[in-house]
Amino acid sequence: MKPSLPDLIVWGGTGNFKVLCELLRDDYHIIGYFDNNPNIAPEYRGVPCLGNREAFLAWVRDGFSTPETHFFTAETRRRGELRGEKKGEKTPRLRVSAVKTPLVSAVENTLHFIVSIGPGYGQVRREVHAELLAHGLLPITAIHRTAFVAENAVVGEGSQIYANATVCVDVQIGRNCIVNTRASIDHECVLEDGATVGPGAVLAGLVHVGENADIYTGAVVLPRVRIGAGAVVGAGAVVLKDVPAGAVVVGNPARVLERSPKM
Ligand SMILES: CC(C)(COP(=O)(O)OP(=O)(O)OC[C@H]1O[C@@H](n2cnc3c(N)ncnc32)[C@H](O)[C@@H]1OP(=O)(O)O)[C@@H](O)C(=O)NCCC(=O)NCCS
Repeated sequence: MKPSLPDLIVWGGTGNFKVLCELLRDDYHIIGYFDNNPNIAPEYRGVPCLGNREAFLAWVRDGFSTPETHFFTAETRRRGELRGEKKGEKTPRLRVSAVKTPLVSAVENTLHFIVSIGPGYGQVRREVHAELLAHGLLPITAIHRTAFVAENAVVGEGSQIYANATVCVDVQIGRNCIVNTRASIDHECVLEDGATVGPGAVLAGLVHVGENADIYTGAVVLPRVRIGAGAVVGAGAVVLKDVPAGAVVVGNPARVLERSPKM
């Protein structure tokens, strides 16, 4: 008999979630996703949106298993009941037959989770991760079957390595990092917690990326360069020298952009 897959919830329902769905489909039973945006899609590839943070907290309070569910319905969304919801307002409580709840395993403390909040939000990713952890859910680390991760590389809890990415020898990747599609992290690089490396970006050897920093699509970072905490490296930039914490750099050679990024 084929063993059943472990149950998993995902926090976040945007494009990043779609990538994770493909990555995790063979290894986990994704029972649904939570997102605070009331306009998020009600389902993706048969996986339902289970509601926002309040819905999640109600679910936790009820021990994960109550038949009286608190999840949103597509109908509620259409009526706009959740739009303009103010802090402190009660989340509508609705029974949703579409959500099949094989949630008994959560009671046995075997419900897994991963936070799928994309680039620009490393700190939020970390905070949501800490909250779900505090509720007793089990974090996973997601590595695509086509990614190469060297045997002695370290990949922290909650981090995600997408298709065709390369994580070379002696690399250390912290918690809640994202190494996006076809990104390349060469020998002895360090990514601190919450860092994101965008699609096709290349970090040469011994690069150090500070916490919550974002290196966007196709950027190239030369050997030994240090990217400061919370810094942003724009798409296609070629970074020759250290980037101060919080700075935004663009171009070749990369120069500091004085404006703050909108994303
Ligand atoms: C770096 C970045 C975050 C800056 O965003 P921003 O602050 O909104 O910047 P703006 O779009 O207002 O542009 C400001 C200036 O920088 C220039 N600029 C912005 N991004 C640039 C880039 N990647 N390379 C070169 N120049 C860039 C703009 O042309 C503009 O120049 P101008 O003032 O002479 O007109 C953004 O442009 C970027 O590169 N985003 C990457 C997105 C991405 O790869 N996402 C993938 C997610 S997986």
